[in-house]
Amino acid sequence: MTATTIDRYAVIGHPIGHSKSPAIHRAFAQATGQALEYDAIDSPPDAFVATVDRFRASGGRGVNVTVPFKLQACAYATDVSPAARAAGAANALKFDGQRCWAENFDGCGLVRDIRDNLGQRLRGRRVLLLGAGGATRGAILPLLEERPACLFVANRTVSKATALVAEFHAAGAPNSLQGGGYDDLGRGDRFDIVINATSASLTAEPLPLPASALHPDGLAYDMVYGKGLTPFLRQAQAAGMRQLADGIGMLVEQAAEAFAWWRGVRPATADLIRRLSTPLT
Ligand code: ATR
Repeated sequence: MTATTIDRYAVIGHPIGHSKSPAIHRAFAQATGQALEYDAIDSPPDAFVATVDRFRASGGRGVNVTVPFKLQACAYATDVSPAARAAGAANALKFDGQRCWAENFDGCGLVRDIRDNLGQRLRGRRVLLLGAGGATRGAILPLLEERPACLFVANRTVSKATALVAEFHAAGAPNSLQGGGYDDLGRGDRFDIVINATSASLTAEPLPLPASALHPDGLAYDMVYGKGLTPFLRQAQAAGMRQLADGIGMLVEQAAEAFAWWRGVRPATADLIRRLSTPLT
C-alpha cells in the first residue's frame, strides 16, 4: 500500500503569528473541496532560502511570502512573472521540480476589490496613489491596466515618486501615470479614488493630504486592514468622501488569485471578506 501525500502550502514571513493567510486558504480549500494543508512558517530573517528549500523538500507545492521576504522571493525564483518583475517583489511562489515561479498578486487583489467588491469603476477616473514604496510599486501596473484617466503617485519624499514614475515610463507606461509631492495636489481636478499605500497607517500618522484634492463622491481606500478608521480614512471622511474601505478585501482577493494559480479553481470571496471585516470606526 502506498501512502497518499497531501499537497502542502504555507505562508513564510517574520514575524508570522498575525497572518490571516492560513485561515483564508483553509476556508478556500474547504469551499472548493480541495485537499491541502496550509501552515504559517516563521523564518529567521537570514534564512529565507534555507526555509523555502526545506519546505520544498518536505513536499511543499507553493508558498505565500510576506514581510520581510518579498524581494528575496523574487530573487529565489527561476521564472518571474511580469507583475512580480515590475513590483520587484513576489508574494507567491509555485514549485514544480527544479522550477520555481514567482508572482505578485497584491495589485491584482487591490483592483479586484475596488472594481468588483466596492463597485468603483477605475476606467476614465482620476486615481491618486499615496506612497512610493513596495506597495505602490506593485499596484501601478494593475491600476494602469484599468485605463484610469490619470494615476498620480504622490510621496512625501518627492524624488522617490518622480524616480518611480520615470522608471515605469521607461518601461512603456502611458503618460496618464504621473508623480510628484503632496504640494502638487489640490491645484487641479479632484481625485475620484484615493489609495493609501504608505506605511503611515501602521504608525497612526496623518498624511499631508489637502482636502481640496479629494472628490466627495469618491472612494478612499487604505491598504492596511483591521485598524478601524485610520488617520487617512478620517481625513478622507472629513473631506466629505462617502465611501471608505480598508485592505481586507485586497488581502482576500490576492489570496484567491494565488489559490487559483496553484489549484486551478478560483474560490468565491464575498462571504469570507464579510466575515473578516472589522468596523471602520
Ligand atoms: P512598503 O513596502 O510597505 O510600501 P516602504 O517601502 O517602507 O514600505 O514605503 C513606505 C512609504 O510610506 C514611503 O513612500 C514613505 O514615504 P517616504 O518615501 O517619504 O519615506 C511613506 N510614508 C511612511 N510614513 C509616512 C508619513 N508619516 N507621511 C507620509 N508618507 C509616509
